[in-house]
Amino acid sequence: MGRALASNCQLDDGVPRPGRCPVPGCGSLVGMTATAESTPSTRIRALSAAMVMTLLGQLLLGMANTFWLKLPDTGSGWTAAAPMALLMAHMTLGAALLVLAIWIAVVAFRDRDSNWLRASTVGVLGLMLAFGGGIAFMSQTSNDGASYLMAVGTSLAIAAYALGLYRIPVTSNA
Ligand code: HEM
Repeated sequence: MGRALASNCQLDDGVPRPGRCPVPGCGSLVGMTATAESTPSTRIRALSAAMVMTLLGQLLLGMANTFWLKLPDTGSGWTAAAPMALLMAHMTLGAALLVLAIWIAVVAFRDRDSNWLRASTVGVLGLMLAFGGGIAFMSQTSNDGASYLMAVGTSLAIAAYALGLYRIPVTSNA
């Protein structure tokens, strides 16, 4: 065969060869796992999976705030919030999520990856809505809309990154 083979491709004779298989439909899992580790799309996939998991953690932390954070019924909650550690943990994770979202957007931009550019635009938007909702809620604790905005932003971001993961092209029939 005149073609140069990259690593770990297994052709009809069953002998493993190094590289991604050049034969259409070959679907050599060995070849794919060997080359996947270093590709940009693998990095963005890992970051997005981390994002979905962290968003779920933030959802639970937000619910913990709903149930156990003591706030006045109306007016500013900043001075009276207790336990403050619960709120601080939620705010810190919110800020970390925003940083992660921007990181994913930068990687998507560098890779010129339209799937992840779309997903991360909606994700950053959802997180900004949630963050803004949190600040607005703490300024006026009777503002149910602001509280709901956090739930809306969280859902939007989870949906965006989950769809981004779903839309990764399938390269194997295995
Ligand atoms: C990425 C940012 C954030 C996300 C994803 C997020 C998400 C959530 C979620 C899902 C809830 C539970 C359901 C709800 O009340 O909507 C919640 C509750 C809460 N969050 Fe956030 N949040 C974020 C940022 C913030 C910030 C920056 C603050 C404070 C400045 C904050 C303060 C609160 C409070 C006080 C509650 C309880 C609300 C209530 O009792 O109705 N959140 N958050």
